[in-house]
Amino acid sequence: MASHPGQLQPLAAQAARLDAEHAATDLRDRFLLPSGVVYLDGNSLGALPAAVPAALERVVREEWGRDLVSSWNAADWWNAPTRVGDLVGRLVGSARGQVVVGDTTTLRLYQALRAAAVMRPGAGVLVTDAGSFPTDLYMAHEVAAEVGWRVELADPDDLPAVLERIAAGGERVAAVAFSHVDYRTGRLWDLPGLVAATHRVGALAIVDLCHSAGALPVGLDDSGVDLAVGCTYKFLNGGPGSPAYLYVPARHQAAFANPVPGWHGHADPFAMTGTYEPAEGVARARTGTPPMLSLAALEAALTAFDGVDVAAVRIRSLSLTRFLRACLEALVPGVDVVTPRDDERRGSQVSVRDEHAYGIVQALIGRGVVGDFRAPDVVRLGVAAPYLTHTEMLTAAAAYADVLEAGEHLDERYARRSIVT
Ligand SMILES: Cc1ncc(COP(=O)(O)O)c(C=O)c1O
Repeated sequence: MASHPGQLQPLAAQAARLDAEHAATDLRDRFLLPSGVVYLDGNSLGALPAAVPAALERVVREEWGRDLVSSWNAADWWNAPTRVGDLVGRLVGSARGQVVVGDTTTLRLYQALRAAAVMRPGAGVLVTDAGSFPTDLYMAHEVAAEVGWRVELADPDDLPAVLERIAAGGERVAAVAFSHVDYRTGRLWDLPGLVAATHRVGALAIVDLCHSAGALPVGLDDSGVDLAVGCTYKFLNGGPGSPAYLYVPARHQAAFANPVPGWHGHADPFAMTGTYEPAEGVARARTGTPPMLSLAALEAALTAFDGVDVAAVRIRSLSLTRFLRACLEALVPGVDVVTPRDDERRGSQVSVRDEHAYGIVQALIGRGVVGDFRAPDVVRLGVAAPYLTHTEMLTAAAAYADVLEAGEHLDERYARRSIVT
């Protein structure tokens, strides 16, 4: 922290006071993080929960190595997708029996969109946000082409007006698909409001929870969301490539037609019949053999949330992101924070727009502050509240100021981008 010594002292005192105030929600000891690193990329790959290594070792050595194929019954591997689904469900406001884990968010989106087309026969429009994550847009256009929908791109802020305009024009909207939190800006959309607007025109609300699950209360059941998907490797800390999930509320399960019908979603899988008959409940959304080692890692990872109310995580997260923004604004002249200042509209990250964003991210990583870059010009600082402190927010902002002051971000080493940014 070379720069701005006069400003640092009061901010350091404030950080210490806030850390003391929020001591009860500091869950750092439930995670294994390298020392000397301020990890602000938990919105891309969450940190390693302390329970995971031993749990994986046990599953590999005992359930796989010793008990072999019997573990499908004895260790209940078969029901892991719905068992772990219930654990995820608790964290996103779903009653039991409505979430299934496995496959990728991309595939889960395909299932949700195709199922929506069956549930709204004759409706011809899919409304989605142009700022959605690329995979969501690819899937929207792909499914639209398959089922004959027209895709209307709308900013979620304009959704009620757009839906009314479409309805007034005589078209029926099948579904509205959007992300709860914008992956680039960290903007949090009003879920109950968007769902209500969607239902007013008779459409289904499909939500991507990748950037909200585990970071803030989602309230799926309370909001009346129709279908939801999400990944588990971000704020749920499931590990690289950990399986995604799909939420199908009980009221829609009978009508849910799985467009990827596989034997694990069959009513009687070991009857080995040649005709598909869907299982009862959310299990019908299963596809093929689940990634058991990844599921075991995720199940262990979720114990980091044992006894934790996501509402408390949210309070800590808001305080951290509020303070990170304040530190950036105090220490970095002209910083352009694109994440909303308003608590109600902010997810769990602070994003800064800068034409040199890539170089800034790399230079920060060089100083042990790990964030990421999102094209074209965004520095993303993800804030996974359970394992971060206010003092680390200040460390990150001071490093940001120092990078800019020293011009480190302009170093020619950063002129060429790696595959993963
Ligand atoms: C908002 C959002 N949706 C979808 C995806 C893609 O998820 P997957 O790689 O599991 O298909 C991501 C990945 O980061 C994401 O951030």
